[in-house]
Amino acid sequence: MSGIVGYIGKRQAYPLLLAGLQKLEYRGYDSAGIALQGADGINIIKTKGKVADLQKEVGANLPVGNAGCGHLRWATHGPPSKANAHPHSACSDDFVIVHNGIIENYLPLRGWLAGEGHRFASETDTEVLAHLIEHYYRGDLLQSVQEALQKITGSFAFIAACHKEKDRLICARRDTPLMIGLGEAENFISSDLAALLHHTRKIHILENEETALITSSAVKIYNSECTVMQKRAQEITWDVTSAEKGGYKHFMLKEIMEQPQALRETMRGRLSDGGQKINLAELNFKAQEIENISKIFIIACGTAYHAGLVGKYLMEKILRLPVEVDVASEFRYRDPLLCAKTLVIVISQSGETADTLAALRLARERGQQVLAITNVVGSSVAREADKVLFTWAGPEVAVASTKAYLTQLLALYMLTLYLAAKRQALPPARLKEIGSALFKLPAQVENILSREKEVAAIAGYLKRWESTFFIGRNLDFAVALEGALKLKEISYIHAEAYAAGELKHGTLALIVEGIPVVALATQKAVLEKSLSNIKEIKARGGYVLCFVQEGMEALQNEVDSIFYLPTTADIFLPMLAVIPLQLLAYYTAVARGCPVDNPRNLTKSITVE
Ligand code: AGP
Repeated sequence: MSGIVGYIGKRQAYPLLLAGLQKLEYRGYDSAGIALQGADGINIIKTKGKVADLQKEVGANLPVGNAGCGHLRWATHGPPSKANAHPHSACSDDFVIVHNGIIENYLPLRGWLAGEGHRFASETDTEVLAHLIEHYYRGDLLQSVQEALQKITGSFAFIAACHKEKDRLICARRDTPLMIGLGEAENFISSDLAALLHHTRKIHILENEETALITSSAVKIYNSECTVMQKRAQEITWDVTSAEKGGYKHFMLKEIMEQPQALRETMRGRLSDGGQKINLAELNFKAQEIENISKIFIIACGTAYHAGLVGKYLMEKILRLPVEVDVASEFRYRDPLLCAKTLVIVISQSGETADTLAALRLARERGQQVLAITNVVGSSVAREADKVLFTWAGPEVAVASTKAYLTQLLALYMLTLYLAAKRQALPPARLKEIGSALFKLPAQVENILSREKEVAAIAGYLKRWESTFFIGRNLDFAVALEGALKLKEISYIHAEAYAAGELKHGTLALIVEGIPVVALATQKAVLEKSLSNIKEIKARGGYVLCFVQEGMEALQNEVDSIFYLPTTADIFLPMLAVIPLQLLAYYTAVARGCPVDNPRNLTKSITVE
């Protein structure tokens, strides 16, 4: 996820573009840049780093021009660098583009354009689009953009400018937000409302496959057949702060709601044909390396560690390989047994967690090959690992990790599927079944999110308690740990997660009348056992909030509240069961008046030991 802004109109563009980028900084960035239509050409200024670094790069001699665009990069293809920063031009500086999204087929397009004589200055997917537009240009920028769009697959929100057509900006959108603000003799473009609302509340929110031609006095919007559409602008009533949160009260809720999109972006270019094909060529595994793996270590902290626990169950079940999962702060001091045929996986949303980074370095010192799953391109973990599988969740602002966790799980499922295919661990038909079930997950997550109020009602019981338990068996236990952490870290309720079969070995002594126990019972294979654990709790007066798959009505009369999840194979339930637990933690914390996005004593990335 990046941030883009555009301006064309009666005023000098630079100060307005800069202010727009400052409004988008919360979206995360690793580089920044602007392009302005000057008298003799398009003036591009860009740099690695923040908007403040861009201002230093510009210096005192402010660029002039009444039209231009700006960009804050959240790197996906190509590490953070000046060359990879946007705006990108084509062979000629007459063409400039800023882009948010992922162009899936950029590599074959790059090869074809290179064959047509185009020369590239960066490693990005975006630059390919600039050259493609240039390739189709025959005097009409709109037409060349519309032709280029026919060739690309993936997601985009972009602004294109051409020096031969200084009086207009062209923009287009597919699966990534882009909006146009209507002013008086000026118009504005942005990835989100936060950068527009200071100037205007009259907004066009572009729909998928729409393109727009924007001058200082007019906005024309075209559908995918390149026909002009008569669209009325919306009058937006949000304030700027709520706009930064996408209209949600907290970043955490916004990020919970972004999970279907985060899953789709993380699948993009990797899981295709409805899940029938898995492609992780980006990991550059040699066939022998995959064949040689005899053990897997997964190392992480906090929520990322909980994702690793799900990975253990998955990989042991599907790959039939031993998997050891460890918190990084323990791994690095226990002189772990590593051998040449061990694959070490580290998981880190920020890619900067000190303990995880230290564990990565220890494994590499021991000669291990390390594969990182991280959400930040250019992070220390991403730079120091041998292989990286990026999650494309976009910036996660709330301290409590939600969409990053879910995309970490997806990365582990895809990695397991990929390794299973390469090691022929399962018959092709079974692999396709798993792939197509994975492909359906974003829609199933959407279904659960649409029932958020059902969970909010359940949270009403939790809010007045100071301690609670989360129990589950098998994969449900791994998810119970994550659910407990979510509740603890934002509502300050002491929540302990237990393997359900363990309660009778001591913890049952703490089950008193009315105490809330969140029971995950989604695993058909151990449903009877889970039911008997629930009965143990009920017999002692516990209040059971149960989460099961549809069809498990047998538990309805055994518990105090029940939430039905969409049915799927047991192994995918963690991707679904965690959603109501995130919402449960969120609504409980809100009910208790806690600072949801910034809980006490915690920060987003623990870069100290
Ligand atoms: C999760 O909600 C917490 N904020 C915390 O446990 C976090 O997952 C942990 O600090 C690891 O962070 P990382 O993924 O950036 O390495």
